[in-house]
Amino acid sequence: MALNVALLESSFAQLKVNSAAVTQLFYTRLLTDYPEVQPLFAKTHMEKQGQQLFQSLVFTIDHLRQPDVLSNALKGLGTRHVQYGVLPQHYPMVGSSLLKALEASLGTAWTPEVQQAWVEAYGVITQLMLEGADCAPEQLHLPISVK
Ligand code: HEM
Repeated sequence: MALNVALLESSFAQLKVNSAAVTQLFYTRLLTDYPEVQPLFAKTHMEKQGQQLFQSLVFTIDHLRQPDVLSNALKGLGTRHVQYGVLPQHYPMVGSSLLKALEASLGTAWTPEVQQAWVEAYGVITQLMLEGADCAPEQLHLPISVK
């Protein structure tokens, strides 16, 4: 699947301006909508975690035109997530909360095309991370829901 690189880059440039607000919105949504993931973050410093998550998104968007580099990095990230206790079924939860946070942050700039571009991008990120987690593709439930 060819990602809409130009739209991902331009929308992410707007999100970067308010990265702390975006990640705070994301984790608030995630932990409220999916309380079952709360134990995974029991010992986590959430502000630092938010910065790390956002930095990994920066890296992802910066390397959309270098698929080999991106693929290696995301597979490695997926391998580490197994050690954090993350399961395949958690990925759609994170995706849904993340996209809702992006939508709330972008406001009117969150057009159907931008939404589609991010749904597809999150699908690719998930696929690569789960490959790194040695997870069979049929365990995925894509595309994620943004409603
Ligand atoms: C787009 C997908 C995701 C991205 C980009 C992402 C990014 C990150 C990053 C950058 C870290 C810092 C540690 C490291 O680099 O290994 C991290 C840690 C973590 N992530 Fe994710 N993550 C994703 C999906 C998930 C999912 C689906 C869950 C499950 C709810 C999750 C839960 C965690 C936990 C529990 C940690 C460890 C926190 C700690 O150190 O206490 N992540 N994630």
